[in-house]
Amino acid sequence: MQNLLAKTTTSKPYNRQDWQKGYESQPNEYEYWIDEIEGEIPCGLNGTLFRNGPGLFDIHGTPIGHPFDGDGMVSAISFQGGRAHFRNRFVRTEGFVKEQEAGKMLYRGVFGTQKPGGWLNNAFDFKLKNIANTNIIHWGDKLLALWEAAEPHRLDPHTLETLGLDYLDGILQPGDAFAAHPWIDPSCDMDGGAPCLVNFSIKPGLSTTITIYELNQEGKLLRRHAHSIPGFSFIHDFTITPNYCIFFQNPVTFNPLPFLFGLQGAGECVKFQPHQPTRIVVIPRTPPYQGVKILETQTGFIFHHANAFESSDKICIDSVCYQSLPQVQPDTSYKEVDFDTLDPGQLWRFTLNLKDETVQSQMVESRCCEFPSVHPDKVGRPYRYLFIGAAHDATGNAPLQGILKLDLKTQERQLWSFAPKGYISEPIFVPQSDAISEDRGWVLTVVYDASRHRSDVVILDGQDLNRGPIARVHLKHHIPYGLHGSWTQKCFINCQSKIQ
Ligand SMILES: [Fe+2]
Repeated sequence: MQNLLAKTTTSKPYNRQDWQKGYESQPNEYEYWIDEIEGEIPCGLNGTLFRNGPGLFDIHGTPIGHPFDGDGMVSAISFQGGRAHFRNRFVRTEGFVKEQEAGKMLYRGVFGTQKPGGWLNNAFDFKLKNIANTNIIHWGDKLLALWEAAEPHRLDPHTLETLGLDYLDGILQPGDAFAAHPWIDPSCDMDGGAPCLVNFSIKPGLSTTITIYELNQEGKLLRRHAHSIPGFSFIHDFTITPNYCIFFQNPVTFNPLPFLFGLQGAGECVKFQPHQPTRIVVIPRTPPYQGVKILETQTGFIFHHANAFESSDKICIDSVCYQSLPQVQPDTSYKEVDFDTLDPGQLWRFTLNLKDETVQSQMVESRCCEFPSVHPDKVGRPYRYLFIGAAHDATGNAPLQGILKLDLKTQERQLWSFAPKGYISEPIFVPQSDAISEDRGWVLTVVYDASRHRSDVVILDGQDLNRGPIARVHLKHHIPYGLHGSWTQKCFINCQSKIQ
């Protein structure tokens, strides 16, 4: 374990075979008190870290073509009184249950998984498998597993048992999408300062319909409005300020023919257009939701935004931007990806001038990075600290092995790296309850330890990553590389009765 912020090594800080092992299926479901802990879990850290991500990379031995196509597996790591409890369960989606019963792959995947049997067995098969693998949130007294192209699945937060599709008490209709990237506005002026959840759905086509949903803490609909924007869209995430929702319409086109004829997954039919600008769609959050603006900026591809805030008639948006859409060649396994041939994600600040409708952009961090996290009270507001997954080396593209802290005021950086054997997942910042300083809290991340083929839940000090882990909570097994998750202050285990 090293902490080498500025050093660039000549040899690679990772090993491909090590990295590949984090993509091994985890077919088992566990439930246990964690008894192997290095360091000490802070006694003020009470609540549950929910994580979601693909758990299976093969269906009864048939490999999937892209990790985004893997069945959703939810993990819950509950902290209470210095102890930690682990539980994981697959989301019992309709597709998961049917494939487990059939003992074979029954569905194509959106991102490139084809059923065995060649194109003849895949052509004109448009059955959608809602794999519920992208995010997991606790909102409105419901635990919801999210996948952006379809409805959420509701789980029991105590057991992670799947309760079924959830239509948010009638807000959604069967077949509606609900994105996997909701934001919680910590203090909404329209609602007397109460928090609200803001999310969206995308209906792609020759033009794109963006529907925005705002839900109160009970999960009831506060506001819903839909907008049509020109052109096809591949929009995974968005960002909010008190007055706006902002979407980046990546410059891509979609040719459905290879998908229709069973040659490629739908995601593989998305082609990046380097000579077209990125369009930034700014939609008011306040009624009557008019005055949508579409601005243009340099080309690039964005999956995730870190945060946004308003400053007089400007909006600043911090986003992880790739020079082009990182795509693996269709005939190459994702496990064989040559990191050196793909563009790294880098952090950019886009400053939108709403008056003259211009955009300025500036790179904030050139180190390869992904999965940003900020203090929950700073969502949509001016902020100082950003925590983000990062590569060990300062240059080039590589797997994420470190957690980077950016002080956007002083430009100071801290990096804690788990190289050469550790591979991190999305960091989540959890503030201390009595904190005055924005960075006073803990950074939680799941780290795959290739030396033991197991995963650790690692707790870092938000004020000083250089201290190294406050605690490494060793799981008895590995969790494959995940996507997103969330923290809730609720602890969903009956700790007293289950302590062993
Ligand atoms: Fe995402």
